[in-house]
Amino acid sequence: MSKDTIESRLVEKRVFKPSALFSKQARVGSAAQREKITRAAARDPERYWASEAKKLLWRKPWKKTLEWKPPFAKWFVGGALNVSENCLDRHLGGPRRNKAALIWEGEPGDSRTLTYQQLHRETCRFANALKSLGVKKGDRVAVYMPLVPEAAVAMLACARIGAVHSVVFGGFSADSLRDRIQDAKAKLVVTADGGFRKGQKFGLKQQVDDAVKDCPSVRKVVVLKRTDQPIAWHSERDVWWHEAVDGQSAVCDPVPLDAEHPLFILYTSGSTGKPKGVLHTTGGYLTVAASTVESVFDLKEPDVYWCTADVGWITGHSYVVYGPLAAGATTLMYEGAPTCPGPDRFWAIVEKYGVSVFYTAPTAIRAFIRLGDAHPNKHDLSSLRLLGTVGEPINPEAWAWYHRVIGGGRCPIVDTYWQTETGAIMISPLPGATPTKPGSATLAMPGIDAAVVDKDGKEVPHGTGGFLVVRKPWPSMLRTVYGDPARYKKQYFSEFGPKVYFTGDGARRDKDGYFWVLGRVDDVINVSGHRLSTMEVESALVGHPKVAEAAVVGMPHAVKGQGITAFVTLKGGLQPGNGTTRELVAAVEKAIGAIARPDRIRFTDALPKTRSGKIMRRLLRNVAAGEEVSGDTTTLEDFSAIAKLQADE
Ligand code: PRX
Repeated sequence: MSKDTIESRLVEKRVFKPSALFSKQARVGSAAQREKITRAAARDPERYWASEAKKLLWRKPWKKTLEWKPPFAKWFVGGALNVSENCLDRHLGGPRRNKAALIWEGEPGDSRTLTYQQLHRETCRFANALKSLGVKKGDRVAVYMPLVPEAAVAMLACARIGAVHSVVFGGFSADSLRDRIQDAKAKLVVTADGGFRKGQKFGLKQQVDDAVKDCPSVRKVVVLKRTDQPIAWHSERDVWWHEAVDGQSAVCDPVPLDAEHPLFILYTSGSTGKPKGVLHTTGGYLTVAASTVESVFDLKEPDVYWCTADVGWITGHSYVVYGPLAAGATTLMYEGAPTCPGPDRFWAIVEKYGVSVFYTAPTAIRAFIRLGDAHPNKHDLSSLRLLGTVGEPINPEAWAWYHRVIGGGRCPIVDTYWQTETGAIMISPLPGATPTKPGSATLAMPGIDAAVVDKDGKEVPHGTGGFLVVRKPWPSMLRTVYGDPARYKKQYFSEFGPKVYFTGDGARRDKDGYFWVLGRVDDVINVSGHRLSTMEVESALVGHPKVAEAAVVGMPHAVKGQGITAFVTLKGGLQPGNGTTRELVAAVEKAIGAIARPDRIRFTDALPKTRSGKIMRRLLRNVAAGEEVSGDTTTLEDFSAIAKLQADE
């Protein structure tokens, strides 16, 4: 674990208080009220979480709120419920029955609205189709889809019958999909003939065909017709979605599931080459997703809530699908690129549907700043009342622009800190209660015991940087790394003992106790809010026949937050030719996907190494950022490698 990133950043002094108007109507309307809730929750976290869990519909009450055998937790032990029933059926008995559950806009301009009743019906029919195709409780189902309503339907249908979904972002390559299907031993894959992005049709089915060649566990592939592109067809294995649901009953009883029944696996990058299957379970996950979506986004019945994430990421799971639907909200989904057909598409959507709560990533905000104020200014954004961000620290300039240009100066901004592993928001303002400071996620949510500690696990004084940890279990925490409990233990519960969850992030608290997340302290980089492991990119590069060695580091990037620089040495005497960079980029795209494409590849005769042969990434980070090489270089084997890289700059 490196301490490079544990440094204090520029201290931002501005404080934005929620307006009296906002606070008056908010669920939590003052800092004092938040403090009171937080204190009570800290005194008895189990009681707090039990009261949140009781807001859901349980088929069988739990016997014990928490069973904590560090580092393994079970929440609501002995209780039974169904996530799909909580997200759908529960709302059918009252006025929400005909409320829009899902508003969807396709990139080409087509749109659909599904009421709770309609979404329920589609989910039941697809759940019955899954059963007809042989999917049983506990089976794993891979979902590799464009951002269309059927992606949510597939997730909810799995939850309804107790199948475990593993959604794989549609931008991942066939090789990545294959690895994830193999690791989970998925029995069925749900995909589409493609989707629309940046005005083009992209394919998905070919990637599935390539991936499942090496996946003997897969029996069936369900294919949604979205783009009508020609695709290869394997009639013994492939089934059209519309044919699979044809004639299926719109009634499918939700299966009551143990609170600890797995709900989904979601793969995320860690500090090794192999992605981890983060496992979330039923009762605890839904409790915190539902509780936080209501408190952080202050949801009200008439809100039109838009979280721009893809369902392929945790944000899409918790804050596009499960959280908002459990809360009975209207959740909006947009299939395509923010700039298609024009740079104002997002703002056109806000105006068209009267979006009131908008949640996006700092990288998107920075991209919009570059496009200019004219695009949002063209649209009536007066329906917006609350803004949110997630995925990386937001730089104060981006915060200020978001506040002024998108929020018209009147919308509070909730900067929400959390992770795939935490399942739900951990540190965030409550919009009617918490004065915000641009760049800080502010305070830990009630029931969350977050702290900043030194390498011995001792809490550091405010103002000092350290490691961000969570000292008590919480219901939506990951339960394990799928199939690899040893890795779970090592990754999250070894650095500071088996009781303390280590986030992998560095942080600092200011004099008001506000958290300022400083970024990852491991070999994970955060590109456009997406986590990538430097080791994964390295192994993709080293897989290329010309490459001898590769070292990948993050570098500051104006839009993406972090970009990727790869330092590469070629095998014995080979010189980089015209196409070498292109070949290497293609190798990364094939192994991982376009999101991992290096921004810069630098060829070098030698990488800076310690005497024991370890690559000194710290120095390479300096070089990639164009900074002076700093810190201790006494263990460096040969300084000429680094001097040469700097001279080449
Ligand atoms: O480094 C932190 C950063 O994103 C990481 C989690 O990435 P992932 O699991 O992909 O989930 C992203 C969406 C929840 C964290 O370890 N991160 C996330 N939100 C913030 C953040 N860093 C600073 N501020 C945030 N609000």
